[in-house]
Amino acid sequence: MPGFEIFGAEERKQVNEVLETGILMRYGFDSLRNNHWKAREFENAFAKRMGSQYCQLVSSGTAALTVALAAANIGAGDEVIMPTFTFVASFESILALGAVPILVDIDDTLTLDPQAVEAAITPKTKCVMPVHMCGSMADLNALRAICDKHHLILLEDACQALGGTYEGKCLGSIGDLGCFSFDFVKTITCGEGGAVITNNKQYAQHADHYQDHGHDHIGNDRGAENHPFMGYNFRISELNAAVGLAQLDKLDGILKIQKENYSILREAIEGIEGVTFRRVPAGGEENYSFLNFFLPNEELTQKAHKALSEAGVDGCFYWYTNNWHYISGWGHLKNLKSLGDLPSEVIGQMQDLNNTDFSKSDAVMGRTISSLIKIGWTEKQVKERAKLMAKTIGQTLKE
Ligand SMILES: Cc1ncc(COP(=O)(O)O)c(C=O)c1O
Repeated sequence: MPGFEIFGAEERKQVNEVLETGILMRYGFDSLRNNHWKAREFENAFAKRMGSQYCQLVSSGTAALTVALAAANIGAGDEVIMPTFTFVASFESILALGAVPILVDIDDTLTLDPQAVEAAITPKTKCVMPVHMCGSMADLNALRAICDKHHLILLEDACQALGGTYEGKCLGSIGDLGCFSFDFVKTITCGEGGAVITNNKQYAQHADHYQDHGHDHIGNDRGAENHPFMGYNFRISELNAAVGLAQLDKLDGILKIQKENYSILREAIEGIEGVTFRRVPAGGEENYSFLNFFLPNEELTQKAHKALSEAGVDGCFYWYTNNWHYISGWGHLKNLKSLGDLPSEVIGQMQDLNNTDFSKSDAVMGRTISSLIKIGWTEKQVKERAKLMAKTIGQTLKE
């Protein structure tokens, strides 16, 4: 995902405004900051762009998930349903609060299978966390209906799907809370950063206080502020926020180029017999950060993945065997490896992940290849890539 591809004069200007004052912190120092409030400005602009009432910037996407869960009062022993295909931040953030990640199968949307979600609900379930992997989304209407029926919180992890939409609304703005990452390889970047969005005033207030040691941010004397409850430090710095502010202005341009490049690649391979695509739920529009496709079986997919790499088509991911994004590679989670003792609720309630049947997820992930989409490609480069992808995949399927 390409924010870093377009780092330029606009980002430098924003950062220099902060450097000129030397006030790198988002709170306080009112008389010294020459009226620069980059984090606040980014929050207002991002909330507006996402069509959400409130935005809280934080230090990372992982922090955003942790703060969002905490803001929704999730704590020890509460179960949070999450998919088998995601980034490790999902279970890290849940475990950080003493809550219990419950992993369930994905379907051909590459995220939560609503039936698997419903089957996993227990009296301890508090939250359902779809992760909109690789630019597209979960079946949000189905998940919303399940959450409403069982009085659960719907928390969207939209870290990889910024700018995608569902029934005309931005991903992340549909659930009770939505989370984003602005790390260095996301659609827009702050270097490191993240955001929580919500339309719930109480969650917004919780997030505001929680990410800054519980400060209530009333008045302009930080030392005199009250702490209605405990929090931590998940603050973003003004330097990171300044970069993000410049990047946000470029978001629509990024999405446009992504869609153009994605369309060229997709067109080139969609006629090949045996190639199908990840299902985008009706009413959804991807952000086009990846082209995700399926081949007929695991063996052919592994062969094609190897052949693409050997042919010089870079950036094609086979998540099924990498250590970062799929349950099969997470020995440390399966075996609950932690530095200190985990809360007793976690030890008592965790699934036995070494022996849970995720064959439905395996059947999808074993057949999935994702090609990244760069925005720096020239038209000629995309067309050459498209041709090479089509030739390589076509040959593999014919052999
Ligand atoms: C789906 C998803 N969620 C959460 C995160 C965590 O974001 P960060 O790296 O900013 O902590 C990532 C980062 O890759 C991600 O892809």
